[in-house]
Amino acid sequence: MVDVILGLQWGDEGKGKIADYLTPKYNVVARFQGGPNAGHSLDFEGKKFVLNTIPSGIFRKETINLIGNGVVIDPVRLREEIERIVNECPDYKDRLLISQKAHLILPTHRILDAASEAAKGDAKIGSTLRGIGPTYKDKIGRSGLRVGDILESDFPEKYRAAVQEHLNIIQFLGFTDFNLADEETKFFSAIEFLKGHQLINSEYFIHDCINKGQKILAEGAQGSLLDVEFGTYPFVTSSNTLAGGVCTGLGVAPKHVGKVYGIFKAYSTRVGSGPFPTELNDETGEYLRIKGHEFGATTGRKRRTGWIDLVALKYTCMLNGVDELIMMKSDVLNGMDQIAACTAYSIHGERSEQVPSNLCNSSIEPILEWFPGWGEDLSHTQGFEAMDERFRNYVHFVENYLGTKIRVISLGPERESTLVKD
Ligand code: IMP
Repeated sequence: MVDVILGLQWGDEGKGKIADYLTPKYNVVARFQGGPNAGHSLDFEGKKFVLNTIPSGIFRKETINLIGNGVVIDPVRLREEIERIVNECPDYKDRLLISQKAHLILPTHRILDAASEAAKGDAKIGSTLRGIGPTYKDKIGRSGLRVGDILESDFPEKYRAAVQEHLNIIQFLGFTDFNLADEETKFFSAIEFLKGHQLINSEYFIHDCINKGQKILAEGAQGSLLDVEFGTYPFVTSSNTLAGGVCTGLGVAPKHVGKVYGIFKAYSTRVGSGPFPTELNDETGEYLRIKGHEFGATTGRKRRTGWIDLVALKYTCMLNGVDELIMMKSDVLNGMDQIAACTAYSIHGERSEQVPSNLCNSSIEPILEWFPGWGEDLSHTQGFEAMDERFRNYVHFVENYLGTKIRVISLGPERESTLVKD
């Protein structure tokens, strides 16, 4: 069975911590979409790691980690990432599998990303500039290069042909701020490095695991509101971040998908451009940013902050078929006098509990419900039922609104600050 863990907001919900927490229950952790635009932070034993492409099970010695076909891989960044973890995981090569069908991010994909964002001016997406969009564009356009291609003798020719096409576009956009020769030296060295890893037909591997009764955790990246179909288009990433993406991103049939764990923060954040109905451009927003350390794990960019948006969360619970909710960073709200939750939108003056199909063009005002804060001390050592009543009321309100139980509450970055509610 393949269970799924994914973010229900705009990413950065804390999937790394929870995937790491859940991993002991699973034989395999698999990434099914996205690429090095992700930054999954893991804190344990006083150490902190940020993973971009490698699944979060890599630090557990019994866990196999798969980078699935739906992921896009930058060999240069993957190599850097491996170099950051190799001391902690000297056996990593035995436990890291890479799909031969995963697409490669070429140096010119990154340049194209920068060129295209520069050409958009104020309308830019706020991309992480990791080459994600251009790589998926080539995949869908049937001109991408895949991991398996590096094992073929005609790889250099295929590479040159792809690069020439990219350079034509880059020239057309008038973008000149790059040094391709340097990037290519690093790229080809990283390609040789990649060849020393287990490059496999991962769909067969996954089915083998399923047939043996092993448990697989599919680890989503980014968040549901950044999904290319249902997110805040065009301010989205270029992959299917929803549970549906697991089937195509790993090659498993829907009947093998089991439980879906949906992760959300007790407030909202977003990096990059795009609509954000509950955004707080004020002191409270700044307070959440500082207290919640809301700066990008991958790019260091300031995250935008705001109140929890239950309308959007209910939408992503529906799209993903979430079975269990996991609430992160509730401790960031400790000490606030009042806490708000958006329970409906006012769209051109009309109340709605649905996310409109074009969130970008509508004039949306959040309708907020207010809750009393629960003070500074949110000790959880005696279990959920012994926690501050005001906090429990807030949790129950969210559960009732979303129609789904919150099973785990995270109250800090460490593995120990995790409360299993029921
Ligand atoms: P791209 O995926 O790098 O092209 O970025 C597209 C949009 O998704 C931008 O607004 C990014 O800030 C956002 N984004 C991409 N990856 C992540 C992530 O892992 N966490 C949060 N936002 C992300």
